[in-house]
Amino acid sequence: MTVASAPGKIILVGEHAVVYGRPAVAVPVSQVRARAAVERASEGQGIAIIAKDLGQRILLGGEEGWRSSDPLARTVIGTLNHLGLSRGQDLTISVESDIPIARGLGSGAAVSTAIVRAMAQHFSRDLSPQEVSQIVFGVERIHHGTPSGIDNTVIAYERPIYFVQGKAVETLAVGKALNLLIGDTGESSPTKDVVGAVRRRWQQSPPRYEFLFDRIAQIAARVRQAMAEGDLVQVGRLMDENHQLLRELGVSSPLLDSLVRAASDRGALGAKLSGAGRGGNMIALVTPAKRRGLEEALLSSGAERVIATEVPPSRNGSPAAEIWKRATSFNEGTV
Ligand code: MEV
Repeated sequence: MTVASAPGKIILVGEHAVVYGRPAVAVPVSQVRARAAVERASEGQGIAIIAKDLGQRILLGGEEGWRSSDPLARTVIGTLNHLGLSRGQDLTISVESDIPIARGLGSGAAVSTAIVRAMAQHFSRDLSPQEVSQIVFGVERIHHGTPSGIDNTVIAYERPIYFVQGKAVETLAVGKALNLLIGDTGESSPTKDVVGAVRRRWQQSPPRYEFLFDRIAQIAARVRQAMAEGDLVQVGRLMDENHQLLRELGVSSPLLDSLVRAASDRGALGAKLSGAGRGGNMIALVTPAKRRGLEEALLSSGAERVIATEVPPSRNGSPAAEIWKRATSFNEGTV
């Protein structure tokens, strides 16, 4: 049996604007993970995908199975295609995840990434993070409308990234550890719907939205620099500014706003919604001394749960960001 896993993710700054070609910063959340196991099955079984948490069992085989638009099925088919393998395999693929679904934590992309990795290992094939990301992006495109590709990228690389659609992936230098709290509103928020709502607004008034996207782009560039310098006060300030711009985009909600306010009142360095918005998660940048108090403040202000995560400083404290040499192109779907 081969087993692989993949982390969740959060967007630190730049969501939505990133769909329109602007930069965004995202970090992996390694405390929550999706896992996949692949084992050989008895001859003639075909490929069975079992997701116990979701109460799902899919049997690939027959035209219907191969045409399925189910994300798990598309991930398996995309991986077989990418590896140049025939569909005539007998495999049982089991998946499980402790990443909350539809909360902006990248649960779908993480499950797909775990499947791709476990399948590649099963067939003794080495895939680069870029290849894994590209296969998963093919699946994301079926289910998220017009995704930027940031979720599959940060999850496949499992490093903090500065992401611009269609450009080489840049992994970020982190001068000082970032302690983050993720406050879950408990409200699920399908990314596709919120991205679609922003698109309709943008179509009605392109100059206004382009202006907001440009301001968010400036924030992402400044966050990249502040992170490298370990200037957490500046990162926090920029997160606050980004939240205000996301409100102007119309993607916040009363609960997100009150969690962000609660975090600021209790001394967070910065706070904002994270991901698509209109539900999902908010994040707060905190100092270790204030972490416990802030966690309690978020829970008593209506968060369903709070996940604490740390973005560790880059190895050697190196201020130089690493650019992945091969440019990432998401123009070709592999699914
Ligand atoms: C979702 O994690 C982030 C969005 O910007 C959508 C995307 O980038 O595809 C809202």
